[in-house]
Amino acid sequence: MPRQLFVTTALPYANGNFHIGHIMEYIQADIWVRHQRMRGTAVDFVCADDTHGAPIMIAAEKAGLTPQQFVANIAAGRKPYLDGFHIGFDNWHSTDAPENHELARQIYRDLRDNKDGSLIESRTIEQFFDPDKGMFLPDRFIKGECPKCHAKDQYGDNCEQCGAVYAPTDLINPYSALSGAKPELRNSVHFFFKLSDPRCVGFLQQWTQDGKLQPEVANKIKEWFTVRSNPDGSSSEGLGDWDISRDAPYFGIEIPDAPGKYFYVWLDAPIGYLASLKNLLGQRGQDYDAYMANPALEQYHFIGKDIVTFHTLFFPACLHFSGRKTPDNIFVHGFLTVNNGEKMSKSRGTGLDPLKYLSLGMNPEWLRYYLAAKLSARNEDIDFNADDFMARVNSDLIGKYINIASRAAGFISKRFGGQLGEVSEDGAALLHQLRSEVGAMEQLYEARDYAKALRETMLLADKVNAYVDANKPWDLAKKPDQEARLQDVCTVCIKAFRILTCYLKPVLPALATQVEAFLNIEPLSYANIAQPMPAGHVIDTYQHLMQRVDIKQLEALFEAPEPAAAAQEIAHPGGEAIAPTIGIDDFSKIDLRIAKIVNCQAVAGSTKLLQLTLDVGELDETGEPRLRNVFSGIASMYKPEDLAGKLTVMVANLAPRKMKFGLSEGMVLAASHANEKAQPGIYVLEPFAGAQPGMRVH
Ligand code: MSP
Ligand code: ZN
Repeated sequence: MPRQLFVTTALPYANGNFHIGHIMEYIQADIWVRHQRMRGTAVDFVCADDTHGAPIMIAAEKAGLTPQQFVANIAAGRKPYLDGFHIGFDNWHSTDAPENHELARQIYRDLRDNKDGSLIESRTIEQFFDPDKGMFLPDRFIKGECPKCHAKDQYGDNCEQCGAVYAPTDLINPYSALSGAKPELRNSVHFFFKLSDPRCVGFLQQWTQDGKLQPEVANKIKEWFTVRSNPDGSSSEGLGDWDISRDAPYFGIEIPDAPGKYFYVWLDAPIGYLASLKNLLGQRGQDYDAYMANPALEQYHFIGKDIVTFHTLFFPACLHFSGRKTPDNIFVHGFLTVNNGEKMSKSRGTGLDPLKYLSLGMNPEWLRYYLAAKLSARNEDIDFNADDFMARVNSDLIGKYINIASRAAGFISKRFGGQLGEVSEDGAALLHQLRSEVGAMEQLYEARDYAKALRETMLLADKVNAYVDANKPWDLAKKPDQEARLQDVCTVCIKAFRILTCYLKPVLPALATQVEAFLNIEPLSYANIAQPMPAGHVIDTYQHLMQRVDIKQLEALFEAPEPAAAAQEIAHPGGEAIAPTIGIDDFSKIDLRIAKIVNCQAVAGSTKLLQLTLDVGELDETGEPRLRNVFSGIASMYKPEDLAGKLTVMVANLAPRKMKFGLSEGMVLAASHANEKAQPGIYVLEPFAGAQPGMRVH
């Protein structure tokens, strides 16, 4: 039966753009998927945005957007990263999509109604409630004084000063990080998934310890099953039940037959894998249930080491006890750090911004190659080191591999009209040796040991380069009687290059496509590795396939803000340093106009916004004045009657923005300190007397 694979990466939280850690995970999975396809295996490779939960709900509110709009904006920014690094998901979906709502609710019902006894239980728990916000507070939104060391402003679960771990109820003078209000303890009914049920424990012990998981992962999980006594005299139980519900207001999926109760985000997030697959199949007119029922279907998830519990306990248990297929494996990787493990931080400039990398014209396949050269099947952390990156790309990828083609192809086109020739015995032996590695290469990719696959490939490249050095085509080219040998040697190089390209293809898909075009050959696969390019086969003229890394690019990539600027930021009375210099052209792109505030009103449901109706002297098609609607976050400072009738300055050519309360068609200029909390206050600009609505501000 032909293999059919369903492969995913973890679903990134839809509260920010990708960072380089995400890209690493996608590259790791993408290489494996491409490898599978080169073997002829059918693969469906999907991902989605993880949209639900309190942090995203709160971030959306801060941005003045509905959660749906907020996550849609994040989703809209995904494509340049994925295309840019040749990450070939077949589908990108959302955990807020209808498929996920349906699947999550059905899985829940199946767990609840399990024929051997329900695996869902409700219990009343006591939890902090923010009376101002009218919501229960997640631990990380409760702050207060540490009960041990009395440090102020510590989070609800642990103290950053002394490291103490405690419950939010242990905090002295707790307050809500959202509103500052004193939280009240309130009762609430929560739903639990009974992970401690002997059926679950038995199933998971088997599922996690049957040898499929990486050994270091399985060992770690083993500890979670054991009951042990802690140094402080307390004891940790084995598997505890899992709280899967949250109270409204919550951005999530409503629990069946429980109005006002929502699934905790981690319940519906992994179900999002299935939802994205279902959506993909729907687009193709394929039946989801039939697809899942295929006994040849294998299901794999690539994830980072921080989310192992969710994927090896909760997710398989939810699937199994709802009568569904469980994953065939979970592939866990370590964390990527940048330049010697320094924590990735934007402000200090030590991070590696994936879009900046691309915008500097850096080749995405350099990064794919470099990361692949460091990735194995073990879940170890790996470091992106700029010097190491440059050395590996320039000396291995370009110096060893690309150079084989660049050294030989010129002679083939200039001297032999692009035609390959016959290969004599020594060359044939070398090519045979190269080709005979195909099985080993396949195995290494299959086992996700990309580092070894690339090491082996480079050793083969070394052999080819030794052959070139021994035969010196540049010398042969000077000897008229060595014409045939020159063609022979260069033909061997081109054929060797073809084989090496096949071995690198999962890692360097775009380059492989270029090489296939240059060599006039079918798409490379493991199966056609032995297909000859017979004597007389014509190749195209060689065009440089890949540039070397330029140190200047790396310098620009990691350029930190000027130390002087960082210091100024703190010292500056406005709370931020003056922005980098721009030219007059940049400035003139911004069309600032005098605007008359013809109307101003409060916004129902918002304490921050005022709704302004502005006249900047425009007329519509019928010759009537065209007025602009603008929402502005100035309600803390002004009442509508303070502003109506006044003049101000607006950005008149700002793209309109959809906000929770309607479309905002521009922006009013106002002054504020960079740190609103430290120095509250926002001041609307008003022009000197004489300015008229519609005048441009230069
Ligand atoms: N939304 C959850 C996953 C839900 S899966 C049903 C989540 N999102 S995340 O955006 O925080 O992380 C997404 C993936 O990126 C995870 O697999 C995580 O381990 C991985 N990484 C996050 N930072 C990373 C590095 N620095 N290095 C490598 N991978 C990292 O967790
Ligand atoms: Zn403390």
